[in-house]
Amino acid sequence: MKKNWFIIIAGLFMLIGLAACGASNEDAKSEDGGESEKTLVMGTSADYPPFEYIDSAQGEEIIGFDVDIANYIAKELGYNVEIKDMDFSGLITALSSERVDFVLAGMTPTAERKENVDFSDIYYSANHMILSSTDNELVKPEDLDGAKVGVQLGSIQEDKANELKDSGIDMEIITLNRIPELIQELKSGRYDAIIIEDTVAKGYLESNDDLSGENLPNTEEAGSAVAFPKDSKLTKEFNEVIKEMKDNGKMDELIEKWFGQDTIE
Ligand code: ARG
Repeated sequence: MKKNWFIIIAGLFMLIGLAACGASNEDAKSEDGGESEKTLVMGTSADYPPFEYIDSAQGEEIIGFDVDIANYIAKELGYNVEIKDMDFSGLITALSSERVDFVLAGMTPTAERKENVDFSDIYYSANHMILSSTDNELVKPEDLDGAKVGVQLGSIQEDKANELKDSGIDMEIITLNRIPELIQELKSGRYDAIIIEDTVAKGYLESNDDLSGENLPNTEEAGSAVAFPKDSKLTKEFNEVIKEMKDNGKMDELIEKWFGQDTIE
């Protein structure tokens, strides 16, 4: 019996010790900056302009709306950020196996994903869009009947396509890992349409005269949030800064920077 008590008390002391360590680290982080800062690994799928992409004209670095948000939040909280690029369909597993500390990838918080990861508040909203060729414009869901339709593997657009199919629209759904590949397939005429987010479609529509886009009627789940491993303490910390960014105009400034004035919300 005595021994048990000893173990419990020793355990308690260890916990207090750990907590104290944690706290003093936090202080060091925010005060002196620099080397003692902890590095957080961010997972993303850098195929998604203007959220995250590589502009080869500018260099090899991953840039975009999400990258700016991550850097701002991390700076506020006293962390460094290291970005890991992977396929969108691998991000949830990367989180649940804790290979990354958070994911910023224009990811929508869906009920299904919430079974495996936690999400921050939504920082930007979006709708689904059907992109097709100007030669053969497909604008309504019913137009997709008999069509070959591309979507990103593991995205909510894949879910949406399956939902349309289940509702009786007879289409062939093809999944690819990367958005630029989908655009290529569409432009070359191998696909009749692709379904992607309007905020991302906008950029491609501007630079491709041969493409046309039409919003799909709104669905319940759209918008982007930061994802974390279940029970990560970062969720609360990030939410505080996201709120601050919405209040102090930083979020609007970044939306303006990456999506331009006439942004589709
Ligand atoms: N918002 C959509 C989703 O959560 C698509 C996000 C795709 N993101 C990317 N970086 N490719 O499924």
